[in-house]
Amino acid sequence: MRLILCIVLISSIFAEDEKKSELKNVQVLSYTKKADILKFMKKSVAKDLGVKCNYCHNIKDYASDENVHKLAAREMMRMVKHINTTTMKPLGLHDVSCWVCHQGKKHPDHK
Ligand code: HEC
Ligand code: HEC
Repeated sequence: MRLILCIVLISSIFAEDEKKSELKNVQVLSYTKKADILKFMKKSVAKDLGVKCNYCHNIKDYASDENVHKLAAREMMRMVKHINTTTMKPLGLHDVSCWVCHQGKKHPDHK
């Protein structure tokens, strides 16, 4: 009985690992679950820039880095993460999102 429990436990740990490896090429965001990253992509990234997924992705391979807009977006994510951890959080302020600058546009206004 204990052995069975052990096996069940170990296999559930491996199942958890498999879920993590579902995301193949996530270098900046801290998501490990596909459902969570999809929600963020839909409700924040795509919406905040007013674009569809294919603006950044080869929709047959979301992990691919072949699209320059995706590479730019990754650096933007790095920047946003930096602002939030070094500035906004220590000051007790709201997190910055893509919307703060982009407001539904690919290219934010410069003035
Ligand atoms: C403005 C660019 C941009 C748009 C639009 C966008 N994404 Fe992404 N997406 C990214 C970037 C950048 C990453 C990688 C983030 C990282 O490295 O931390 C990513 C990662 C992903 C991943 C993880 C793939 C993997 O396994 O590595 C999925 C799935 C994904 N996006 C789905 C979507 C879907 C679905 C949409 C449309 C609703 C969408 N994305 C819209 C930029 C974008
Ligand atoms: C502090 C303001 C700011 C924030 C926050 C911000 N951006 Fe940007 N982003 C800009 C500016 C400014 C440009 C350049 C616009 C130009 O030169 O026309 C830009 C350009 C881009 C581009 C390049 C467009 C292209 O032609 O490829 C992408 C993609 C992008 N941002 C994605 C994002 C994403 C995704 C987020 C949220 C994770 C984000 N940005 C957050 C200011 C910001």
